[in-house]
Amino acid sequence: MKQFLFEGKTDMREKNKILFLLMALFFFITTISPVHALNETHLDKSKLPQGCTSCHMSHGKRATVMLERPKVELCFKCHGTLKGRTPGEATSDIYSVILKRSNHPVIQTTQYHITGESLPDRSSSAARHVSCYDCHNPHLLTSNKPLKGTRGYSGRGMIINEVKNEYEVCYKCHSDSANLSSDASNIASKFEAGNASFHPVETPGKNRTAPSLKAGLSSISTIKCSDCHGNDDKGGPAGPHGSNYDFILTKNYTMESGAESPYAYALCYGCHRRASILNDDSFKSHKKHIVYENISCVACHDAHGSRDYDNLINFNARTAPAISLGETTYMKIVPGRPHCFLKCHIESGTYDHKMTGGQYCIKNTNNTNCPPGW
Ligand code: HEC
Ligand code: HEC
Ligand code: HEC
Ligand code: HEC
Ligand code: HEC
Ligand code: HEC
Ligand code: HEC
Repeated sequence: MKQFLFEGKTDMREKNKILFLLMALFFFITTISPVHALNETHLDKSKLPQGCTSCHMSHGKRATVMLERPKVELCFKCHGTLKGRTPGEATSDIYSVILKRSNHPVIQTTQYHITGESLPDRSSSAARHVSCYDCHNPHLLTSNKPLKGTRGYSGRGMIINEVKNEYEVCYKCHSDSANLSSDASNIASKFEAGNASFHPVETPGKNRTAPSLKAGLSSISTIKCSDCHGNDDKGGPAGPHGSNYDFILTKNYTMESGAESPYAYALCYGCHRRASILNDDSFKSHKKHIVYENISCVACHDAHGSRDYDNLINFNARTAPAISLGETTYMKIVPGRPHCFLKCHIESGTYDHKMTGGQYCIKNTNNTNCPPGW
C-alpha cells in the first residue's frame, strides 16, 4: 500500500512537470515575449534573482499553477514582516497592513480564488472572496502601474481584460455581484454618469463651483477610490489593503454626531478647505450644523454620489430621516439656501413648508400656493 502511494505521487510529479513546462512555454510565447522590456517588477532578475521559481515550483506537488507555497502565503514570503529570509524579498510589508482593524479579508478568503475565474460573481452562493491576485497580476505589474494586466469590470455589464482605471478593479466585487453581503451596496451605481452628482472618480464631476477645493484640485480633477480607501499610515505601502480606520479609510471620518475638529472630518478636509466649509462659502448653514449642532457630514452627504440631488446630498436615513409625505426631500431654491424637508426640522420647530394641492408652499417666499397665515 505504502509502495503504491509513493508511486502514485511520483507519477503525479512527472505529470505536473510536463504540464508546467507546457504552461511556461505557452506563457512565454503569449505574454512574456521579448517585446516587453522586462520592466515587469517580478520578472526582473535584478530584483527577483530566482526568476519564475521565486513563485512556482519546477516540479509540482500542488495541482493547477504549482505555486511554490499555498496561495495565501505566497506573496507574504517577500511582502511580509520577516526580513532577510528570501532572495529578492521586497521592501514593502503588506502583511502587517492587511492585519489592521479594517481590511480586505485576503487571509480569510484567498482560498476561494480560482486562477482564470471571471468576476463579478454571478451566483449568490459563490464564496465572496478577495486575494492579492484579484487586484494584481504578479507577472505584468510594474513599479508605476501596480494594477497592470489585471482584469476588471465596467460596473455595467462589460468585462475588461486589462484595466485602465483603478475603479474597474474595484467594480469586479463592489458593483452588481450576485453575492454582495446584505449591508453592502452597488458602488458603481453611485458613480453613474446620469446621477445628479458624484465625486469625480470615473469622470470629472458636475459641480462647477466648489469653493472649498484645495489648491491643485478643480472641478475638472478626477480622484481615485484609493485616495479615500487605503493605508492610514502615509509612510507605509499605498493601496486599499488595510487601515486602522473603518471602511479602510485613509483618514479619520467621524460618522456619529460630535464636536467638529480637524481630526473629526480629516478625510474630507484633506481635499476641501476646512476654513471654507466653516465660513459657509457654499452652504450658508454649514457652520450652524457642523459646529453648533455637532452634525457629521455623513448626515447630509454621500461620499460616493447621489442619484437625485446635487452636491452629493443624500440624507442619511438614520440620522436625518425625511418627512414621509412623499415630497421631494431637498429643494434648492436659492443657491446656498436650500429647503430640506426632514424630521429634524419639524422637531426643532423650523418646519418651513407645506404641500397644498400638489404644490409646495414655502414660508416667506410670497408663494401663492401658501394658505393664509404662511
Ligand atoms: C511573484 C510571483 C510569480 C512569479 C515571479 C511568476 N509567477 Fe506565474 N503565477 C503566479 C501566480 C500567483 C499565479 C496564479 C495567479 C492566479 O491564481 O490568478 C501564476 C500563474 C501562472 C501561470 C498560469 C496561467 C496564468 O497566467 O494565470 C503560468 C503559465 C505561469 N504563472 C508561468 C510563469 C512563468 C513562466 C514565470 C517566469 C517567467 C512566472 N510565472 C513567474 C506568480 C508568479
Ligand atoms: C482590493 C484590491 C487589492 C488587493 C486585494 C491587494 N492590493 Fe496591493 N495594491 C492595490 C492598489 C490599488 C495599489 C496601488 C495604490 C496606489 O499606489 O495608488 C496597491 C499597491 C500594492 C503594492 C505597492 C505599495 C507601495 O506603496 O509601493 C504592493 C507591494 C502590493 N499592493 C502588494 C499586495 C499584496 C502582496 C497583496 C495581497 C496580500 C495585495 N497587494 C492585495 C490593490 C490591492
Ligand atoms: C520573491 C520575492 C517576491 C514575491 C514572492 C512577491 N514579490 Fe512583489 N515585489 C518584490 C520586489 C523585490 C518588489 C520591488 C519593490 C520592493 O522592493 O518593495 C516587488 C514589488 C511589488 C509590487 C509593487 C510594484 C513595484 O515595482 O514596486 C506589487 C504590487 C507586488 N510586488 C505584488 C506582489 C504580489 C501580489 C505577490 C504575490 C503573487 C508578490 N508581489 C510576490 C518581490 C516579491
Ligand atoms: C475580488 C473581490 C474584490 C475586489 C477586486 C475589491 N474588493 Fe473591496 N472588498 C471585498 C470583500 C470580500 C470585502 C469584505 C466585505 C464584503 O464582503 O463586502 C471588501 C471590503 C471592502 C471595503 C470595506 C467595506 C466595509 O464594510 O468595511 C472597502 C472600502 C473596499 N472593499 C474597497 C475596495 C476598493 C477601493 C477596491 C478597488 C481598489 C476593492 N475594494 C476591490 C472584495 C473585493
Ligand atoms: C471621497 C472619498 C471616497 C471615495 C473617492 C470613494 N469612497 Fe468608498 N467610502 C467612503 C466613505 C466615507 C465610506 C463610509 C461611509 C459610507 O458608506 O458612506 C465609504 C464606503 C465604501 C464601502 C463600504 C460601504 C458600502 O456601501 O458597501 C465600499 C465597498 C466602498 N466605499 C468602495 C469604494 C469604491 C469601489 C470606490 C471607487 C469607485 C470608492 N469607494 C470611492 C469614501 C470614499
Ligand atoms: C481626494 C480628494 C477628495 C476628498 C478626500 C473628498 N473630496 Fe469632495 N470633492 C473633490 C473634488 C475634486 C470635487 C469637485 C468635483 C466637481 O467639481 O464636481 C469634490 C466635490 C465635492 C462636493 C460637491 C459635489 C457636487 O457635485 O456638487 C461635495 C458635497 C463634497 N466634495 C463633499 C465631500 C465630503 C463630505 C468628503 C469627505 C467624506 C469629501 N468631499 C472628500 C475631492 C475630494
Ligand atoms: C446639514 C446638512 C449638511 C452637513 C452636515 C454638511 N453639509 Fe456640506 N453641503 C450641504 C448643502 C445643502 C450643500 C449645498 C449648498 C448649495 O450649494 O446650495 C453643501 C455643499 C458642500 C460642498 C460643495 C461646495 C463647496 O463648499 O466646495 C462641500 C465640499 C461640502 N458641502 C462639504 C461638507 C463637509 C466636509 C461637511 C462635514 C464637515 C459637510 N459638508 C456637512 C449640506 C451639509
